Amino acid sequence: MVKTMGETKWDILYDPKKKSLFSRIEEFAINTYFSDAFVKAILSASKIKSGKIFEPGSGGGMACAKFAQKGFEIISMDLSENALKKGKELFNFLSLDGKFTLGDLFNLPIKNNQFDVVFNQGVMEHFRLAKMDAPAGVKEMMRVLKKDGTLVILVPAYFSPLYFIYKFFKFFNLLEKYWPYTDQDFLHKHELYQMMHKAGCKNITVRRLWSSFFFSMIGYCKKNDEDE
Ligand SMILES: C[S@@+](CC[C@H](N)C(=O)[O-])C[C@H]1O[C@@H](n2cnc3c(N)ncnc32)[C@H](O)[C@@H]1O
Repeated sequence: MVKTMGETKWDILYDPKKKSLFSRIEEFAINTYFSDAFVKAILSASKIKSGKIFEPGSGGGMACAKFAQKGFEIISMDLSENALKKGKELFNFLSLDGKFTLGDLFNLPIKNNQFDVVFNQGVMEHFRLAKMDAPAGVKEMMRVLKKDGTLVILVPAYFSPLYFIYKFFKFFNLLEKYWPYTDQDFLHKHELYQMMHKAGCKNITVRRLWSSFFFSMIGYCKKNDEDE
């Protein structure tokens, strides 16, 4: 039986027939530039050259594809079947190997201590306004990391270029018509830090990612013995 989670709001974002112009521009920017910047930042934070990488909330899968091209073992997971389909098509097109799983990052269908890196980008900022417990999701991501593995979270930063574009749309009442998300948040450094701290992360680093033209805030930490 094929596992299904029913159509989510995210399926609309990844439905080629329903995709808005803004989503297309955003996807183009991520695929052509930002995914490279994210991959470099994740490798620099984790300092690994091989191993298993897991992305819950992988969307179209471009960052995963870049890791797969570098020889990492990849597991992509998403809540949206349309997003997973897009990721699979990308992997097929590029003749890459990867595993694709449908699932919810708040309840990962995965055993403890599996990955060298767990990361996501553009995901954890969608929970606070929707009154969901983002630290509970971070805790789940920590659970599936191996000891000494690295958790990396990338979110849009407060006062970033995207934040001002968002404000422009909001000012002219264009959000509903053009902005693809109803629950997007822009995080201050201390907000991302708190999200990770509440989840039990230790030795957390949070900073703006200059290579993303300061669009993104990156937070990372290692899993140590005490996190077991
Ligand atoms: C804004 S998109 C970002 C996708 C991709 N990481 C990127 O950078 O292009 C957010 C993704 O997170 C997924 N997502 C949202 N909530 C989720 C959850 N609870 N569990 C797993 N995936 C989730 C959505 O389906 C969507 O694909």
